[in-house]
Amino acid sequence: QNEATNSKPLSGKSVLVTAGPTYEAIDPVRFIGNHSSGKMGFAIAAQLANRGAKVMLVTGPTAEKLLHSSIERIDVVSAQEMLNACVGHFSSADICVMSAAVADYTPLTVASQKIKKQEDTFCIDLKKTTDILKVLGESKKSDQLLIGFALETQNEEQNAIDKLRKKNLDLIILNSLNDSGAGFKLDTNKITMIDSSLQKTIFDLKSKDEVAADIADKIVALL
Ligand code: CTP
Ligand code: CA
Repeated sequence: QNEATNSKPLSGKSVLVTAGPTYEAIDPVRFIGNHSSGKMGFAIAAQLANRGAKVMLVTGPTAEKLLHSSIERIDVVSAQEMLNACVGHFSSADICVMSAAVADYTPLTVASQKIKKQEDTFCIDLKKTTDILKVLGESKKSDQLLIGFALETQNEEQNAIDKLRKKNLDLIILNSLNDSGAGFKLDTNKITMIDSSLQKTIFDLKSKDEVAADIADKIVALL
């Protein structure tokens, strides 16, 4: 192998990455969201681009900015918009990393006018969103790599393995919220990787850039 292949092991590869939260509209001025910053997904996109990949980054609302010319960014707001963008780009992707914190439920209807306050208690009916990762797993071809995340607070490893199987993944990144210093708004993360042969690797608490480098290295190793 020449030097160029060693430093750019993903050259010629197309990667689809999702990042950030989704916002699910309640009415024209309100939404249901979550605390995902988008940092992890943007860091993964950068690490994959550094290794030579052409990256399509589908992101929910975030303050993160791109610094790489081989990353194309598609901004979406809702889980449905993220699904549409991912389905449209999946067939041309060699590798897919879904790090977005997609809403599991969305309002059944969106009020066309701002909802006025009335009673002391108030309910919003919600319906399940489509599981984007599961949909992609169902149409995955044998030469595609599909990587997902699992955010768990109990039975972490078993739940992650269940997700790996249910969604037909090649690798799952278990995010441990239990460890102090890891999580949504921080710049650090503590992960465990489990691949489809159930080989498990536990990593130390690291910066999100270092975690993204570990994930990119594992992807190169899996190819
Ligand atoms: N995911 C997705 N579409 C959804 C929900 C989740 O693509 N509608 C993806 C996430 O991007 C992540 C993985 O599925 O890569 C796991 O997300 P997580 O929230 O941990 O698991 P869920 O399957 O949603 O199950 P639960 O929240 O009940 O644990
Ligand atoms: Ca979820």
